[in-house]
Amino acid sequence: MSSWESVEVPAGWTVLVHPELESTNSEVLRQAARLDHGAVVVAESQTAGRGRRGAPWLARPGEGLTFSVWLQPEAARALWPRLSLVAGLAVAEAMQAFGIEAQIKWPNDLLVDGRKLCGILVEAGARGVVVGIGINVNGTEFPPELDGQATSMKLAGGRGFEAGEVLGLVLRSLHRLAGRIGADFPEVIGRIRERCALSGHQVRLESGSGPLRGVVEGIGDRGELVVVADDGRHEILQAHEVRIVD
Ligand code: BTN
Repeated sequence: MSSWESVEVPAGWTVLVHPELESTNSEVLRQAARLDHGAVVVAESQTAGRGRRGAPWLARPGEGLTFSVWLQPEAARALWPRLSLVAGLAVAEAMQAFGIEAQIKWPNDLLVDGRKLCGILVEAGARGVVVGIGINVNGTEFPPELDGQATSMKLAGGRGFEAGEVLGLVLRSLHRLAGRIGADFPEVIGRIRERCALSGHQVRLESGSGPLRGVVEGIGDRGELVVVADDGRHEILQAHEVRIVD
């Protein structure tokens, strides 16, 4: 299915490949007590891949790259949610190395021409955090419910890609960025802003305080979304508090 032996793994990180798992995030959380920082679990196929807010993550075997990375950040726990944005940037910069220009739809969906290429699910455990990444690599057809909403590296790049090579590049990119959720974060945010798919666009959101419509002003230095609501108020929104409807 893929040549995983040739994956260039960052120093000190490990990769374990399973032919099938329910969900790599669930597997990492289940094993977390035994895992070290940088343990990567890959599934060639997931039977119950999970997306944000309980949505499923659908990928046909051999067409997607689905994996989770266990990280034990040195930074304070309150900063761990920043890894969600950082992971989006890590994948976007890896895509660039393959000639694919991806935009980041805050907080961390990756889009090419408005269609989703990659989804990220970050979940905290007791001692660390799991960063789960699903990338559409070689698929060219998607389930009817994703009609017009999904794309793949193959569709965007005009050729097929080797999943092991993609994994290696994404891991090295994440390894470089994962420690930068503290004092270095504003510089990371600067790079995310350059790829922000939402800036200047009208959005509809569901937040804890109800529905909101407005225009996205941008992303603040702490990773928050700044929206100018239709009534002129500036709303500062955190990723875990809000769902973008459209
Ligand atoms: C989303 O877009 O809603 C997030 C999707 C995250 C999918 C990845 S695939 C690998 C990892 N394991 C899971 O069960 N989910 C994440």
